[in-house]
Amino acid sequence: MDISCRICGGPVKAAVDLGSHPRGNAFPKPGDTSDEFFFPLVVGMCDSCTMVQLMADIPQEVRYHDEYPYHASNSVVHSRHFEGIAERFLETELTGPDPFIAEIGSNDGVMLARIARAGVRHLGIEPSRQVAEMSRARGVQVLSRFFDESAAEPIRAEHGPADVIFGANVIAHIAHLASVLKGARQLLGPRGVFVFEEPYLGSVVEQTAFDILYDEHSFVFSVRAIRAAAELYGLELVDVEHVELHGGSMRYTLAKPGAREIRPAVGEWLAREEAQRLGEHATLEEFARRAARVRDDLNSLLRSLRAEGKTIAGYGAPAKITTVTNYCGIGPDTVPFVCDSTPSKQGRLVAGSHIPVVSPEVFAANPPDYAILFAWNHAGEIMRKEREFAERGGRWILYVPEVHVV
Ligand code: TYD
Ligand code: ZN
Repeated sequence: MDISCRICGGPVKAAVDLGSHPRGNAFPKPGDTSDEFFFPLVVGMCDSCTMVQLMADIPQEVRYHDEYPYHASNSVVHSRHFEGIAERFLETELTGPDPFIAEIGSNDGVMLARIARAGVRHLGIEPSRQVAEMSRARGVQVLSRFFDESAAEPIRAEHGPADVIFGANVIAHIAHLASVLKGARQLLGPRGVFVFEEPYLGSVVEQTAFDILYDEHSFVFSVRAIRAAAELYGLELVDVEHVELHGGSMRYTLAKPGAREIRPAVGEWLAREEAQRLGEHATLEEFARRAARVRDDLNSLLRSLRAEGKTIAGYGAPAKITTVTNYCGIGPDTVPFVCDSTPSKQGRLVAGSHIPVVSPEVFAANPPDYAILFAWNHAGEIMRKEREFAERGGRWILYVPEVHVV
C-alpha cells in the first residue's frame, strides 16, 4: 500500500515494517491498558523527494495531549546544549534593534528561558499544557497551540516578523510539515532564519537506531529531503550542522531564497549522503534487516541471562523503549521494571509491553545484575550518575549500534 508524500505528493513505498505498536509516549496507568491504541509502525521513502516518513496517519491531538510527559530539561547535557543554542542566537541573529524569536514546540522552556533572562522578545508555541505551564513558571511567554500556516499571520500581526524561528525535536514530529514551512515563510523577516534540529537519518541508519521510529516521528530528515522540501515551499537550505544529541541529529538553517549565503556544509553533507546511498530504498531495507538481527541478538542474550538466573532491569523510559520492547517482545517477565527520572512516567507502564516505570531510587535500592540502557543516547550522563551500579558489579546492556555488554 503506497501513500502520497506529505511533502511533494510523490509515491511513498514502505521500506521498514516493525509491526503493530502503541504510541511511544502513551505510558498508561496500570489497569488502564484495555483500550490501548495500536498502529502499524511502517516507514517508507518518497520516490521523488526521498523524504522518509511514517505510512500511518496519527492524529496529533492523541499525541500532544495536556499530560504529554516529555521534559526537555530532564538531562543536564541537553539543558546545557539548549542554553548554548540560546546564547549563540543572542550573539548572532538577535543583535539587531528589538529582535524577536519564536520557538515551535518550546516544551518546558529550556531554550527560551535563557532568551527571556536576556530580555529579548520571544514566543513559545506549545500545545501541551503541562510543559507549557512549566515554561511559564520560568518567565517564558507561551502561546498554547499547534504551529501551522494559520498561526503565522496572527503571530506576525502581534509580534512582528521573526528574526529566528527555532524548533528542536519537534519539526520532524509534525505531519503537516508543508503547512509549517508555509507558516515559517510568512512569519520570517526578510533576513530571518528558520533553524531546527532533529534526529538525522544518516546517523539512524549508520547506528541501526530503529527505536527512533515511533508514532511521534512522522519524518526522519536527511539533508537532501530537507533541501527539496524547503525549495518546494519557498525557502532555501543555507546551512547544516551535525549535532551529537539523540544519537546523532542534524541542525538545518532555512532562509528566504537569496537572503543568505549557502554554506559549504550543505554541499559536503549532500555528497556524504550520496556516498552512503541514503536516498535509496535498498539502504532502508538493509537497515530493517539489521534491526531484525539486533532484535534476535537481544532476545538470545536475555534468554541466556535468565537461564543463568541473572536479574535484569531497564534504565530510562524514553519513547524509544516502546518501540524496542514491543518490537522485540520484551515484557515484565524478562524486565520486571525500568527506572526513569521523569515523575509523570513513574507509576505508569510502558505502552504495549507493560513494563512498570519506577524512580531511579527504586533502581538503586534493587540493583539488577544487568541493566538495559534504553536511554542509550544519554549513556555518558547516566553511566556517570550510576557509577556505583557498575562498581558493585552491575553490567550495562546496550543494543545500539549492536547488542553489547559493558
Ligand atoms: P530522550 O531520549 O531524551 O527522549 P525520547 O523520549 O524522545 O526518546 O529520553 C530520555 C529519557 O531518559 C527520559 O524519559 C528521562 C530519562 N533519563 C533518566 O531517567 N535519567 C537520566 O539521567 C537521563 C539523562 C534521562
Ligand atoms: Zn516526496
